[in-house]
Amino acid sequence: MEKVKVGIIGCGNISSVYFKKLKESEITDIVACADIIKERAQKKAEEFGIPKVYSVDELLSDKEIEIVVNLTIPISHYEIAITSLKSGKSTYSEKPLAINKKQGKEIVKIAKQKKLYVGSAPDTFLGAGIQTCIKIINDGIIGEPISATAFCVGHGHESWHPDPEFYYKIGGGPLFDMGPYYLTALINLIGPVKSVMGFTKITFPERTITSQPKSGTKIIVEVPTHITGLLEFENGAIGTVITSFDVWASNLPLIEIHGTKGSISVPDPNGFGGEVKIFTEKEKKWQVVPLTHKYAEQNRGLGVEDMAYAIRTNRKHRANGNLAFHVLDIMESLHESSDKGKRIILKSTCEKSKPMPEEGLYE
Ligand SMILES: NC(=O)c1ccc[n+]([C@@H]2O[C@H](COP(=O)([O-])OP(=O)(O)OC[C@H]3O[C@@H](n4cnc5c(N)ncnc54)[C@H](O)[C@@H]3O)[C@@H](O)[C@H]2O)c1
Repeated sequence: MEKVKVGIIGCGNISSVYFKKLKESEITDIVACADIIKERAQKKAEEFGIPKVYSVDELLSDKEIEIVVNLTIPISHYEIAITSLKSGKSTYSEKPLAINKKQGKEIVKIAKQKKLYVGSAPDTFLGAGIQTCIKIINDGIIGEPISATAFCVGHGHESWHPDPEFYYKIGGGPLFDMGPYYLTALINLIGPVKSVMGFTKITFPERTITSQPKSGTKIIVEVPTHITGLLEFENGAIGTVITSFDVWASNLPLIEIHGTKGSISVPDPNGFGGEVKIFTEKEKKWQVVPLTHKYAEQNRGLGVEDMAYAIRTNRKHRANGNLAFHVLDIMESLHESSDKGKRIILKSTCEKSKPMPEEGLYE
């Protein structure tokens, strides 16, 4: 099968895992990379043997490139996705899809008009951990899901990320940063969400960077950094989600789903593997369940690989625009609910993505 030619825009912190994954893939060929800071693109090209270092415009004009992988910061996702789609290229962005619903809607609309593929991270839900949980739920082992909890609390990114400012600007914050992992997993485990209510706050309006090279620099916080949300799923299940950059320590579980016949403890949705545990009314004790699927190790970029294979085999891809847009709708609506002091009925929905084959993408 002919490999799909890929161009990567944004050669920062997260890009190395994508370069590695898409270099090794049997279905993708990275032919070019670009960054607003050209030296960063040059460095990655040297490290990973990428033939061309381009400006963003040059990359988007290269006729051979079929998929643009957009690894820029959230505020740039929309502009790059739109120009890339208008240049006739399928596009996959790091999360979030965009910084608001209006932008996200346009991205999905243009992709549809142009009959191109559009997708977004996270793709961790395609890994062995979440896929094993999806199979357990689909097999009816915990019965019908009735409730879920998802907790992702910590103290932010200024202690380790070299350029952490974007995490505290529009498009950042713990919900837009970590919410996509948790919400994408919940949607694929339980189904789409019908309505939401949220409460948000900013505990520390100014933060100080302690990582290098910007140690001592202040960041003015523009977005809520502690969000508690309630989700009403279309199937009637009720979820509680807390994301925070304001908490020093916590013993909360990551994700639990409670069903009519038992409960499941879901592993970290920001990873591909992890431990799956179930409790059933029959066994009456927690048991570790062996993972049933492939991809338990770092596989970021698997969503791009799935998109590339979907292009060649003319099928739907899993980390797709409709799913990412529904996640974006949930996140913005939680903020909106808090601002307006009322419950928000969502206008979007999506389908659960088709489960992965146990033996891997190509089976
Ligand atoms: N760092 C992580 O651990 C991590 C993990 C998962 C996902 N992400 C997501 O990946 C994305 C990138 O994060 P990062 O940590 O790599 O950020 P980063 O700041 O390290 O890298 C982003 C790169 O994009 C470039 N860039 C920004 N705007 C651009 C534009 N308009 N045109 C071309 N290049 C542009 C920057 O120069 C920079 O090199 C974010 O959406 C983030 O949420 C990051």
